[in-house]
Amino acid sequence: MTDLSKLLQQNREWAARMEQERPGFFHRLRAQQRPRYLWIGCSDSRVPANEIIDLPPGEVFVHRNVANLVVHSDLNAISTIEFATRVLGVSDIIVCGHYGCGGIAAALQPPQDRIVDHWLRHVRDIAKFYREELETIDDPDARARRLCELNVAVQAVHVQESPVIIALREQGQEVRVHGWIYDVGDGLLRDITSLVEKVRAREPGCA
Ligand code: CO
Repeated sequence: MTDLSKLLQQNREWAARMEQERPGFFHRLRAQQRPRYLWIGCSDSRVPANEIIDLPPGEVFVHRNVANLVVHSDLNAISTIEFATRVLGVSDIIVCGHYGCGGIAAALQPPQDRIVDHWLRHVRDIAKFYREELETIDDPDARARRLCELNVAVQAVHVQESPVIIALREQGQEVRVHGWIYDVGDGLLRDITSLVEKVRAREPGCA
């Protein structure tokens, strides 16, 4: 069995450091969480939500899965979006993809008979829909990067068009949806929300 005692020790040190820097921090968090942001990102270990936007516990509600997908029938994602917006009152949802995403790269390869290939079929559909554009990009890395961006945009549209968000909008609670992409090679985020709008305009209800 792997000895994880080092991690538990690190946790104790971290908690002590937090408490020292912000006395009463954990006591306040115990009372309630009131995050302003919902982060929907990839499970990739190189893209830890709180860390890359430099936010402490309590500031960001997080949902992560392989290739940062928002599938219409995924109760996990939908429940998270509903809870974050209706109960916690989150005002901004960030769909964040990343360059070098293994899920996106796999979707550009012939499918295998793994469970994850069923999940990635959603990305494959996006690649099919944007095949014309993607085929104009000769460099395989650049093509994968573009698919990472398109995937973010499509998933952000899925959030915008989810019944939960539509209902909130009709009730007058505006929730902003942002599309971001992270480069694991330089640690920087880029705002690609303008692409979200383009994707939405091109194929409303279908993207
Ligand atoms: Co990824």
